[in-house]
Amino acid sequence: MNDAQTLAAHVLKGLSAPQKALSSAWFYDDEGSRLFQRIMALPEYYLTRLEHSLLIDRAEEIAHTISPNREPLDLIELGSGDGEKTLSLCRTLHDRDVDCVYRPMDVSAHALAELSRRFDSHLPRMALKPLLGDYFEHWPAVSPRRRSVAMLLGSNLGNFDEGGALGLLRRVHSQLREGDGLLLGLDLVKDPHVLQAAYDDAEGVTAAFNLNLLRRLNRELGMDFALDRFSHYASYCPLEGVARSFLVSKADQVVTSRNLQHSFDFRCGETIFTEQSQKYTPQSIEQLAQRSGFRNSQVLTDERQWYALAIWHRPADA
Ligand code: AVI
Repeated sequence: MNDAQTLAAHVLKGLSAPQKALSSAWFYDDEGSRLFQRIMALPEYYLTRLEHSLLIDRAEEIAHTISPNREPLDLIELGSGDGEKTLSLCRTLHDRDVDCVYRPMDVSAHALAELSRRFDSHLPRMALKPLLGDYFEHWPAVSPRRRSVAMLLGSNLGNFDEGGALGLLRRVHSQLREGDGLLLGLDLVKDPHVLQAAYDDAEGVTAAFNLNLLRRLNRELGMDFALDRFSHYASYCPLEGVARSFLVSKADQVVTSRNLQHSFDFRCGETIFTEQSQKYTPQSIEQLAQRSGFRNSQVLTDERQWYALAIWHRPADA
């Protein structure tokens, strides 16, 4: 199946279910990626800034944990984007004379081109081997002489449900060898007001980001969603530590897709579940490591304990 067929099948199934749902994986068309860049700069969206600061301020500690004796490394970043956040860690490894190959993976050729430009101008001597592709399907060919360290940053793991997150972690585990590492960026449970605001900002950028999914379906599946007849709703549940986003129909209405030759009924107030963002505690991080076959080596957090960088390793098989 190509991308268009996958999207068509996903929408047909998702909008026919009793609880309508669409995956947040489809948020990131060009406009969605632009809106996400704006989200990351919002005052309410602290995640990116905190992760970036941890990667800069604690780079020495991270470098020491993943390569204590300056072992050669293959640093594999899953969903690297333009590499801005990883530059400081790469620079630290380089300054420590660690023989390191940085292997960023991303589905966006544009992001990888930006990354190559960034590294060319800021760290030209770093060995760089970008790989265009989806980390669910591809994995870089690493050297048997180097320790692999995979990185999944940006709290991206939180967008998977429990089964999906475990599946992804086990896939990463299966690609790594004994002693290899995994660096995870995870958002932590905190004051619900802070989390609520992070997913429903005052300027309405997150709302535009959520609604843009409907614009994408209009364009790619010939649908006739009227964007002003839906609204963004986000809610954080402290019992589960999950922020969830929905699109809410403002009226009884019918939406049709030319490509699918199908219509979907919406009742006034009916919701489409579009995204979940899991938040973690030190205990749930430990449990997740165990359930996916890893051992937790270290969890670094900021002063307020709002965000964590967890460093795991693959232990010897029992
Ligand atoms: C990409 N991902 C980790 C973001 C998050 O926080 O769940 C996506 C996002 N959705 C709304 N704001 C940001």
